[in-house]
Amino acid sequence: MRSHYCGQLNETLVDQTVSLCGWVHRRRDHGGVIFLDLRDRDGIAQVVVDPDTAEAFATADRARSEFVLRITGRVRLRPEGTQNPKMPTGLIEVLAKEVEVLNTAATPPFQLDEHGRVGEEVRLKHRYIDLRRPEMIEKLRLRSRISHNVRAFLEGQGFLDIETPVLTRATPEGARDYLVPSRTHPGSFFALPQSPQLFKQLLMVAGFDRYYQIAKCFRDEDLRADRQPEFTQIDLEASFVSEDDIMGISEAMIRQLFQEVLDVELPEFPRMTWADAMHRFGSDKPDLRIPLMLVDVDDLMQQVDFQVFSGPASAADGRVAALKVPGGGGMSRKVIDEYTKFVGIYGAKGLAWIKVNDRAKGIEGLQSPIVKFMENVIEELLDRVGAEDGDIIFFGADKARVVNEALGALRVKLGEDLNLYTQAWAPLWVVDFPMFESDDNGRLSPLHHPFTSPSCSPEELKSNPAVALSRAYDMVLNGTELGGGSIRIHDQAMQSTVFEILGIGAEEAREKFGFLLDALHYGAPPHGGLAFGLDRLVMLMAGARTIREVIAFPKTQSAGCLLTDAPGEVSADQLKDLNIRLRQKAKAETGNE
Ligand code: AMO
Ligand code: AMP
Repeated sequence: MRSHYCGQLNETLVDQTVSLCGWVHRRRDHGGVIFLDLRDRDGIAQVVVDPDTAEAFATADRARSEFVLRITGRVRLRPEGTQNPKMPTGLIEVLAKEVEVLNTAATPPFQLDEHGRVGEEVRLKHRYIDLRRPEMIEKLRLRSRISHNVRAFLEGQGFLDIETPVLTRATPEGARDYLVPSRTHPGSFFALPQSPQLFKQLLMVAGFDRYYQIAKCFRDEDLRADRQPEFTQIDLEASFVSEDDIMGISEAMIRQLFQEVLDVELPEFPRMTWADAMHRFGSDKPDLRIPLMLVDVDDLMQQVDFQVFSGPASAADGRVAALKVPGGGGMSRKVIDEYTKFVGIYGAKGLAWIKVNDRAKGIEGLQSPIVKFMENVIEELLDRVGAEDGDIIFFGADKARVVNEALGALRVKLGEDLNLYTQAWAPLWVVDFPMFESDDNGRLSPLHHPFTSPSCSPEELKSNPAVALSRAYDMVLNGTELGGGSIRIHDQAMQSTVFEILGIGAEEAREKFGFLLDALHYGAPPHGGLAFGLDRLVMLMAGARTIREVIAFPKTQSAGCLLTDAPGEVSADQLKDLNIRLRQKAKAETGNE
């Protein structure tokens, strides 16, 4: 029906006859001449309809916002003075000969250029209209380019695209499962995959050597700006590889992607141990664009007469850390109070501070609610953080976990609020993760997943699991965890040891992962891999603030779809087929007894 997309028109087509199909973006009447801005996924073209072409004019006169039209006409240069150099098609217009209404449209719930006036809910409910906005089209087009580029790269490296099942068994990646009841096996459920982890390992046992997939993953977990219940991974796995091989391939892929899609040369990817990241940045995904750093002051604070600080400084699981903000001494009380409230979200009980007004004057030159307690260590403290006139130094004192989370988040917030960024892109690898983390009751859970290989022997792992490190690695970009992976356990004894440490008994392990344990003793090669969050990658590359903006049909914060109103109720017959009786219903039924 069309000869060109609207956005493709330019001066080279002057005097040619073109046919366009698209939506009425705007319609203006100008002294008997009708101007239609016709929009399709490629852009907007200005169409002029003259009263001389009576039939076309009458049709154009009926056209309203978002009507679907087909227009045939001649391309001509816009008259001098009416050109719009800001628009890609701004030098030309189409003089219509024929205008055909392919479909009418009801008044849309919001004008595309006024989407900001309606809430995200309205936009999500009418997502097909929201997706007509050029910015949205641009983001999804970028997403398409990114996955195309990734596929081409991986295919070029000998990776095979292999699909893995969606109706499967639970894959433990730390979230709740989405379950699907089985009709043919009454009382039994499939789980949707939290990742293709187990299947990609089985593909390695099968000998495929290099696998990749752009795979949907499902996790029932608390949602945030960079988390959706249904998201997409660029998942890969390879055999006979080391950490360096997987990190090398992944890094090359991301580097080429940025080069080809954004024309950005990414800087070096430094490697940082997990312990170092937590120490210096309070986070396992440090944003290295921000030049602020946490400084340990435990040894000094053990000597002060201020229990709030000396307590955690002396406790085994405690920490006192300082965060210096150069030039931050001008912060008002109100601003400091706001930051105190902010760290409270992470459980911090306060936010002590010292303003360095005039260092030369010693303690007299400082302003602070706590400095009176620390005269004995103040000079050493100021030296350690490198304090200069005009700085403010914040302090956190608590359990190490609380201090890390609170000051780690404060560091990122200060970077954002004060625009401290020193570079556009700051990638890194975080390595040497602990194998396990323990909850308040001392129960261990895997930091990555239970198929990750430790960097020690099964005996060492068993004797001191809390200090064991894993062969896992995460790629972090601008404070977002883009991807993570590990070298896997390919030895059945080691896998059983890990399950044992996690409190998964032999019987339970067999019931849940028997197929994996079996596969491991039929000649499993050493193997490892990684998965990137595609949504997060696109979000960063598009400069979007949430992954919802780069997903065509995302879910809300409460994991629902406003457009289709999913999840929805199902009929009694369907439930019966599935052998499911709902509890509330059951109550209502028994209520009459
Ligand atoms: P992991 O659980 O770290 O590892 O996930 C890999 C990457 O997937 C992205 N991601 C998400 N993106 C959006 N919404 C979510 N809810 C979400 N959860 C995770 C992140 C993350 O880095 N099987 C392992 C990988 C491996 O070991 O090879 C896995 O799934 O960007
Ligand atoms: P207070 O003695 O409770 O008035 O606290 C003195 C200063 O220490 C205030 O600035 C508090 O915000 C700060 N403060 C209190 N508890 C902590 C803590 N756990 N970590 C850091 N600062 C704290």
